[in-house]
Amino acid sequence: MLRALLPRRIRFCISFLLWLTISLAQTNTTPSTGGNFPATISSVNITKGANITKPGCQRQCGNLTVPYPFGIGLDSGCAIGPWFQVNCNTSFNPPKPFIGEIEIFEIADNLVRISNVMARKCYNQVGELIDSYTAWTNLGGTPYSFSDLNTFNVIGCDDFALISGSQGRNFTSGCVSLCSKAEDVLDGYCSGIGCCQTAIPKGMKYYLASLSSLKNHTSVFGFDPCSYAFLGERDRFTFRGVPDFSDPEFINRTLANVPIVLDWAIGNSSCSEAQKQSDYACEANSSCVDSNTGFGGYRCSCKEGYEGNPYLSPGCQDINECADPNNNPCDKMCINSPGGYSCSCPEGYYGDGRKDGRGCIAKNHEFPVIKLSLGLGFGILSLLMAISWLYLGIKKRELIKMREKFFQQNGGLLLRQQVSSNEGGVESTKIFTAEELEKATNNYADDRILGRGGYGTVYKGILSDKRVVAIKKSRIMDESQIEQFINEVVILTQVNHRNVVKLLGCCLEAEVPLLVYEYVSNGTLFHHIQHSGVSWMSWENRLRIATEAAGALSYLHSSASKPIIHRDVKSANILLDEYYTAKISDFGASRLVPLDQTQVTTLVQGTLGYLDPEYFHTSQLTEKSDVYSFGVVLAELMTGKKPLCMERSQEERNLATCFIMSMKENRLFQILDPRVVREGSLEQLQQTAELVKRCLCLNGADRPTMKEVTMELEGLRKFTLRHPWANDQQHGQDESVGLMANEIESSDLYTVPLSPYSDLAPLSGSQYSLDSTQMTFPASNSPR
Ligand SMILES: *[C@@H]1O[C@H](CO)[C@@H](O)[C@H](O)[C@H]1NC(C)=O
Ligand SMILES: *[C@@H]1O[C@H](CO)[C@@H](O)[C@H](O)[C@H]1NC(C)=O
Ligand SMILES: *[C@@H]1O[C@H](CO)[C@@H](O)[C@H](O)[C@H]1NC(C)=O
Ligand SMILES: *[C@@H]1O[C@H](CO)[C@@H](O)[C@H](O)[C@H]1NC(C)=O
Ligand SMILES: *[C@@H]1O[C@H](CO)[C@@H](O)[C@H](O)[C@H]1NC(C)=O
Ligand SMILES: *[C@@H]1O[C@H](CO)[C@@H](O)[C@H](O)[C@H]1NC(C)=O
Ligand SMILES: *[C@@H]1O[C@H](CO)[C@@H](O)[C@H](O)[C@H]1NC(C)=O
Ligand SMILES: *[C@@H]1O[C@H](CO)[C@@H](O)[C@H](O)[C@H]1NC(C)=O
Ligand SMILES: *[C@@H]1O[C@H](CO)[C@@H](O)[C@H](O)[C@H]1NC(C)=O
Repeated sequence: MLRALLPRRIRFCISFLLWLTISLAQTNTTPSTGGNFPATISSVNITKGANITKPGCQRQCGNLTVPYPFGIGLDSGCAIGPWFQVNCNTSFNPPKPFIGEIEIFEIADNLVRISNVMARKCYNQVGELIDSYTAWTNLGGTPYSFSDLNTFNVIGCDDFALISGSQGRNFTSGCVSLCSKAEDVLDGYCSGIGCCQTAIPKGMKYYLASLSSLKNHTSVFGFDPCSYAFLGERDRFTFRGVPDFSDPEFINRTLANVPIVLDWAIGNSSCSEAQKQSDYACEANSSCVDSNTGFGGYRCSCKEGYEGNPYLSPGCQDINECADPNNNPCDKMCINSPGGYSCSCPEGYYGDGRKDGRGCIAKNHEFPVIKLSLGLGFGILSLLMAISWLYLGIKKRELIKMREKFFQQNGGLLLRQQVSSNEGGVESTKIFTAEELEKATNNYADDRILGRGGYGTVYKGILSDKRVVAIKKSRIMDESQIEQFINEVVILTQVNHRNVVKLLGCCLEAEVPLLVYEYVSNGTLFHHIQHSGVSWMSWENRLRIATEAAGALSYLHSSASKPIIHRDVKSANILLDEYYTAKISDFGASRLVPLDQTQVTTLVQGTLGYLDPEYFHTSQLTEKSDVYSFGVVLAELMTGKKPLCMERSQEERNLATCFIMSMKENRLFQILDPRVVREGSLEQLQQTAELVKRCLCLNGADRPTMKEVTMELEGLRKFTLRHPWANDQQHGQDESVGLMANEIESSDLYTVPLSPYSDLAPLSGSQYSLDSTQMTFPASNSPR
């Protein structure tokens, strides 16, 4: 599962990083300025710019502006050559410009428009020619030629005309226009009926238009007495139909409206040749254009982004495209540059800055920064999240794996086995999670510690449902202790007795196993015995506690589904709740004894001072071992002394021995707790002492069962009377309380085993307080 999950996470991470990279890249691609665009506004125009003519030259002739290389005035030096000299005849009003004989209408960059001539023939009714005019123009020897913008036109209904070109190309072309009825003539355009139009080749220098008629107009005289032929600019002439045939204004109107277009060029050499010549005409920032008329020659043209007269020094000037905000495509900011310009946006705007593009888009002032930092921030945040997610995922896996390991290490499998073999109510035992208990103990805070022992630490815990519990946290566990741990869990889950501490649950996920008990608030019986001064420790209460403990042990021995031998009965393992009710605890060493067996051979386990000597010697564990230990507890209750005390003399060191000796020597009352002597009746005390004596019999068989002990104690409780002769001279020597204090702590639910002892002899020389220390002896003679 881990293997399956991990690649998926990594896959996700990779695609996430890719996405992130792309997003960041996109964030950075917003342009802040438009590009540099070529100028498109201004077309090269010879009449534009500051200087149009040579200095000192006349600029206008009538309405016509005459730019250099043309110039007004014959031999004035204003023109580049004789064929560019414009004769401005001021006898006309307004003055009329002429080049040679030809009137000039317009001078443009690459052409001039000149006045037209029209050929015509008019007939009378009988077909006699009454008026005839032939049109021709010869441009030979001039830098001009007829432009192909011109067409040859023939107007009439009984005509054909020929046009002959020469100089360069000898050619003849013609147009035939025949029609019989006026109704057939279409007006509005030259369709071939009444009006014929034909194209002419470029570069023609000479033309002659001659008109001929088939029937001398006799058949069409009624509506068409004349015929016309002329060369003229296409699109300028509009055929109006039949009215034109007889309109006397037709010639004047047409000549006024339809010019002849001429191409012009400088010289008769090509650009490459001209550039080598001294009279090369093109000035700075202009380029040379070869004439396409076929006769050589060139013209000059301003480079893109420049304007002005390319033939005049100092050449073409840069166009300030930004000068007129209405005449450039920039939205907000226009930056002029030589030969071009660029649009840009002021701060706070973005886009290409062009009106025909995206323009300048107002933006939130901090927007790009915010966007970038937001994007970056989000990206980094997401990256961190992804990494921590991945990390946590792996960590969680590890944790789960570790918990599984702990579960096994902590005997989870063993517990499961036990549960399945004993169909006890383990299901009523809650399995707590590690987090739950961590929370309950405020992460095992020091102020929650209830007690510390050899085995581990007991914490006060408050569960989420406000229940107060005691949580026992073991110390580092070894294999041998796992079994004890499981043992306790299994036993306690099968036991339900008011005088046995209740196990609520456990947690196996943690490094060390954790047991959760009901919270027993008033500490151990051992503690209270050592503080005999406390008021509640009356003889009556002592008897009650003894009875309760005995009842619980009796229950364990007989009532439970399988007899349980506690194996570690001692006052430190009897807890007292808020009502001073006894609760037997610490079942770590306990044994479940199968019903058909009365004794089991085990490792000898128990606490010095309480340990049954018979069991110690034979390793044969029976219920009677618990009876012996209970006898010691009872002796403790009566005397208020510790079961084992190094401070006492050799004979008195062991309380059990000491008690028996005192009884034998009839000085029992010397070792009894003065308060007990005060409060108990002689009979009661004697009977109780007898019971202790029987419990402490060396031979287990001579000891009463716990059931008998319980019944006897219950009997004794019935006549609890205050002893009348309670004497204060009894010198029941009070044990040093201070000395005990540190040992109370170690009287924990759990105790730690010491290294094996072969016998009790080394104890005499030991400086340790071993009264509450559990010892584990390998049974030398009887292996398990
Ligand atoms: C116009 O001609 C004059 C005289 O040659 C010259 O000084 C001036 O710079 C010219 N202006 C431009 C814009 O070419
Ligand atoms: C000359 O210009 C005036 C006004 O600018 C105009 O009325 C007139 O028709 C023009 N004449 C020619 C011949 O173009
Ligand atoms: C101007 O035109 C008139 C009439 O066509 C002509 O007589 C005269 O000589 C011309 N003047 C010049 C300077 O060409
Ligand atoms: C110059 O260019 C303008 C348009 O930009 C045009 O109207 C004008 O006729 C041009 N003049 C010549 C002489 O080509
Ligand atoms: C063109 O025609 C004329 C007369 O018809 C002739 O003299 C001349 O040599 C011709 N030119 C060419 C190039 O054919
Ligand atoms: C047309 O007129 C010419 C001379 O004007 C004449 O020679 C010719 O015969 C005439 N043709 C017709 C068909 O009348
Ligand atoms: C046509 O114009 C010429 C001169 O330009 C003039 O003498 C003649 O009378 C005009 N024709 C008509 C019909 O107006
Ligand atoms: C070119 O023009 C020059 C004078 O401008 C002239 O001498 C020369 O013969 C011409 N060449 C041709 C091929 O027309
Ligand atoms: C072209 O014009 C610019 C100014 O617009 C000028 O700085 C540059 O020198 C000119 N180029 C030449 C070859 O004169």
